[in-house]
Amino acid sequence: MAPPVASEPVFRVRGGGPLEGTLRLSGAKNSVLKLMAASLLADGPVELSEVPDITDVPVMGAVLEGLGVTVRHDAAAGTCRLEVHDDRGLRPPADAVTRIRASVACLGPLVARRGAAELALPGGDRIGARSIDLHLEGLTAMGAVVERASDGVTVHADALHGARITLDFPSVGATENLVMAATLARGRTVIDNAAREPEIADLCRMLVAMGADIRGIGTPTVTVEGVERLTGVGWETCPDRIEAGTYLVAGALTGGRVRVERVRAGDLTLPLRKLADAGATVDVDGDAVTVERRSGPLRPVDVVTLPYPGFPTDLQPQMMVLLTQADGMSRCTENVFESRFSFVDQLRRMGADIDVDGHHALLSGPTTLRGATLDGLDVRAGAAGVLAGLVAEGETRVRDVDHVDRGYARFVERLRTLGADIVREDDGA
Ligand code: EPZ
Repeated sequence: MAPPVASEPVFRVRGGGPLEGTLRLSGAKNSVLKLMAASLLADGPVELSEVPDITDVPVMGAVLEGLGVTVRHDAAAGTCRLEVHDDRGLRPPADAVTRIRASVACLGPLVARRGAAELALPGGDRIGARSIDLHLEGLTAMGAVVERASDGVTVHADALHGARITLDFPSVGATENLVMAATLARGRTVIDNAAREPEIADLCRMLVAMGADIRGIGTPTVTVEGVERLTGVGWETCPDRIEAGTYLVAGALTGGRVRVERVRAGDLTLPLRKLADAGATVDVDGDAVTVERRSGPLRPVDVVTLPYPGFPTDLQPQMMVLLTQADGMSRCTENVFESRFSFVDQLRRMGADIDVDGHHALLSGPTTLRGATLDGLDVRAGAAGVLAGLVAEGETRVRDVDHVDRGYARFVERLRTLGADIVREDDGA
């Protein structure tokens, strides 16, 4: 492991007592970035609220500004206004596109609205191959011509037409791209084996509010009738179920009581059930969820990540931390990303007893975790590393905090609100 660069900021966490308190969260990273991309389809301004103060938002803003969109983002107010002022651009700036996965969400709207796109391969967390073949196959079925290069792809279509598409895998990004492309295609598009994540349903509802004709929202079969145009819209970003789940797991992990406001419990059915199975009490009160664990050991549970409504892969690292403290053998099966067990090595470095066999991780607990210096490998592994530090002996440092900043607004501030002993500082300090 390379020595930390002096100016490199780290999270420094000390294990301590239970987390206690209430957080009110804003919108979902994996929703807002796609809502922003949908502005490419609109004849008028798209005005978003509850926009999370995360670094991916201005990056997506830069992608869209490179495509002739005026982006007015007020991080403090949680708003973002997007309006196309020049619709001739086909090639978003590669330096922004390659930083986040969500930049791929420009592809469908560009081809549908402008007839072509020249996109560098998107970036994002290094948790697997993250191909975009399903996106491209779907657009091809709709009449697009795809030319692949080593570092990007060019897609063009004189006019997209409706098609019947069955996805090999219920890909979130491919579903979003193809639904957006289909809104302006000629005729009917039916997408079978579509992903059903709540963020996709919310995107579809916003598109309908803009004038799209979409049926089967939230189901595995989505039907889109192409329309002539889509108007601008005002829209509130849906709550971030993964961010909420992260703090709720932390409450159970530390033996405390955490209440999260502005969360849809129905989006977290399996994570909440698993926390209850592990011995926490879960209370749902309107748009607030409280997780508490006062006494008794954590019980082992099995977790299987699957596309929604299965257990979300984005809560897998956080749940793994909890399972290291459960009294017995737990199994975690990762079915979505082939490289998402890279976080296991970080936990082993702290003393966790985990055996990995392909898609399965077998965790034996409870094990005492010792503070260590961890790499914040990706958004969720970085956050989970901090959670591990909350129950470890001594101090834990988590590097690459920029990954966590991509998906968690005011992470340190919010954890400190709950009583965590955590600071963010330059590593040289
Ligand atoms: C979205 O990624 C999220 N990111 C991910 O969240 C999330 O983990 C994932 O959905 C699954 O829920 C954003 O929305 C920005 P996929 P996405 O297409 O769209 C394979 C986080 O931590 N696949 O459903 O890239 C792919 O390799 C991030 O917030 C293909 O093979 O997910 C993966 O193994 C991490 N070909 C699986 O499908 C394709 O064309 C799921 O990918 C597309 C996907």
